[in-house]
Amino acid sequence: MKVIKNALQMQKIALKHLRDGDEIGLVPTMGALHEGHISLLSKSEKNDDITIVSIFVNPIQFGVNEDYLKYPRPIKKDLDICRKNHVDYVFMPSVDDMFSQEHRTFVEVQKMQDILCGLFRPAHFEGVATVVSKLFNISYPDRAYFGIKDFQQLKILERMARDLNFRTKIIPCPTVRERSGLALSSRNSYLSEEEKNISLKISKTLKEAVHEFRNKDLNFVKRNVLNKLRKIPNSRIDYAEIVNFSNLSIADNNTKRVVFAVAVWIGKTRLIDNVIMTKRSK
Ligand code: PAJ
Repeated sequence: MKVIKNALQMQKIALKHLRDGDEIGLVPTMGALHEGHISLLSKSEKNDDITIVSIFVNPIQFGVNEDYLKYPRPIKKDLDICRKNHVDYVFMPSVDDMFSQEHRTFVEVQKMQDILCGLFRPAHFEGVATVVSKLFNISYPDRAYFGIKDFQQLKILERMARDLNFRTKIIPCPTVRERSGLALSSRNSYLSEEEKNISLKISKTLKEAVHEFRNKDLNFVKRNVLNKLRKIPNSRIDYAEIVNFSNLSIADNNTKRVVFAVAVWIGKTRLIDNVIMTKRSK
């Protein structure tokens, strides 16, 4: 496994693999790797000749009052995980290398970035789309792996890849959860034991919604979820919304495939989760 810290060097290596006919898989991450990330890189390990994992805590996707500085950076542990999982290259650029003082170009995926998390984190998805398009141009991936856990991010990046004619196929990967149901996230490390217990209510509530969705009105399901989430102690709801699976527009009773997405603060930690729900045809 090679650790590459420079974008130009990574680009030269990727280009050489491309010319040699290797298929390249890219797993973009911000590090603090857990089983969720590992499921992505294992998939690439199976599909691709070469697996590149990027570890970069991307400053431009954090808002001014967000957790950029305190975001966990357990570099040694992350490299061990990558090594154990047969990653070929870990790309770990510096902030200056990715975003120089002169950087002026940003990628905006209109409409899809203005709802759900986008309402509460205004420049977030522009930051994500910009860094991911840079990572695509640096590593020429045939396939790039993203978690359904960050559903809005996944959909925005699928749209971006199509709109900007990237050669990369976006591969969606299922959400990995603890046995308790809690979706794995690097931010779970901020939670105290008590907060962790409380936060289980989020996935439990969504799971119950999937059952209700089969035979109940959409607004009923939504109201029920909101009522249950409001009862979680020490919490604040950013949103609980049912959207169209394909384009993230607000769903109605005629939408066949929907996603119920929520963002809830537990104390000072913001957690997101979602479930995909499909109406049975009558
Ligand atoms: P990060 O939060 O590190 O997540 C990296 C990838 O792992 C994302 O595609 C995310 O959806 C996926 N992931 C996280 N938790 C998961 C889980 N429990 N199950 C399955 N997949 C999971 O998302 C980012 O970083 C950044 O925004 C990034 C795309 C790297 C751009 O900076």
